Amino acid sequence: MKNNRSKEIFDRLKKSIPGGVNSPVRAFKSVNSDPIVIKSGKGSIIKDEDGNQYIDFVGSWGPLILGHAHPSVIKAVLEAVEKGVSFGASTELEAELAEMIVKAVPSIEMIRFVNSGTEATMSAVRLARAYTKRDIIIKFEGCYHGHADLFLSKSGSGMAEMDEPVSAGIPDSTISETITLPYNDLESIERIFNKKGNKIAAVIVEPIAGNMGVILPIPDFLERLRGITEEYGSILIFDEVITGFRVNYGGAQKIYNICPDITCLGKIIGGGFPVGAYGGNHDIMKMIAPQGSVYQAGTLSGNPVAMSAGLATLKNLNNKVYSDLENRGAYVEGLLINTFKEENITVQIPRCGSMFGLFFSPSTINNWNDVLSSKLEFFKDFHLKMLKNGIYLPPSPFESYFISTSHTIEDIIKFSSAIKKSK
Ligand SMILES: Cc1ncc(COP(=O)(O)O)c(C=O)c1O
Repeated sequence: MKNNRSKEIFDRLKKSIPGGVNSPVRAFKSVNSDPIVIKSGKGSIIKDEDGNQYIDFVGSWGPLILGHAHPSVIKAVLEAVEKGVSFGASTELEAELAEMIVKAVPSIEMIRFVNSGTEATMSAVRLARAYTKRDIIIKFEGCYHGHADLFLSKSGSGMAEMDEPVSAGIPDSTISETITLPYNDLESIERIFNKKGNKIAAVIVEPIAGNMGVILPIPDFLERLRGITEEYGSILIFDEVITGFRVNYGGAQKIYNICPDITCLGKIIGGGFPVGAYGGNHDIMKMIAPQGSVYQAGTLSGNPVAMSAGLATLKNLNNKVYSDLENRGAYVEGLLINTFKEENITVQIPRCGSMFGLFFSPSTINNWNDVLSSKLEFFKDFHLKMLKNGIYLPPSPFESYFISTSHTIEDIIKFSSAIKKSK
């Protein structure tokens, strides 16, 4: 595999950008190598600067449910760009996308668009704190809610690769109101609510965890979170930045039939452009400025290019698409399990529709400790071998794999063949 150009460009990047990247996991530190530098993408395929071609199972970390450069997204974006890229003023596109999301996501009656998932989650917490007039936030080990100060303890995704459990630069006072519990552990939730329930502003959770690999909620986990937050007057926040419009049209809340108070979105609703959003019922959302006293703003929020890409993406999604994605997901899961079995390797492939995880482990993975007990050391070697065989996977064991509508059965078979080839 030729990589001279990628290497040359990455060396150049490292001179002016910390670690050569604008987001840590991209640096391939977890797999002890240098990243490939991407030149283009179309459908399920990406090409690097040396002309190597890969089947992409990262999909820009989730947004590209239609694959790269989908014609209807490109068309919508070009049309929007020609009319002016940003006004910092209202457009009808915002109404259109807001209405589509309100119709789709059970918990959302009103929505505020922001520019990233991080902005969505940090604003959701501010709103929850204002609504309840309380400070404590409960989050779960291995869940990732973006890079705002209050979330960066024992967090998933790139944070999981750091040596320290809390990022440097965060004052104790900022994180002191954040309590981190094990995912899928009902007992610890009961315990903390018994002790501090009246002071808990919100519980924030990824209803399907996608930032420590993929971990599905055990039966009763989400139900109990809903029940206990209601009992104590705390806010339940579903961080559906990954799962929103990924696992089905209404998100994980539709699958599990749980209605949170606030839902955070991102990724797919921006069709590959920088977007986030948070929403809930009228009562809570009317507290946001200028209607209410919770301040939150953004120069480029709701900008027409991102709104157009999001709209074009959502317009391509319907029940039939999700059922096709489920079939392809089931196919990849079955095929990979069998392929590894033939190589005498036991794996766990937790999956919901088109998002799945891969753990080298004989036992079910339910929480962060289980993730750490899986054979993480296998992953480096596996990632490199897959890359050499034309399969692009997230360069960390703590991430989710995604299939798009553009992935074919042949793409999936090539994934399996790459595993067989790389013994
Ligand atoms: C569940 C979840 N929440 C929040 C975020 C933060 O989103 P962003 O990277 O757009 O700030 C991410 C990012 O991957 C995420 O997976």
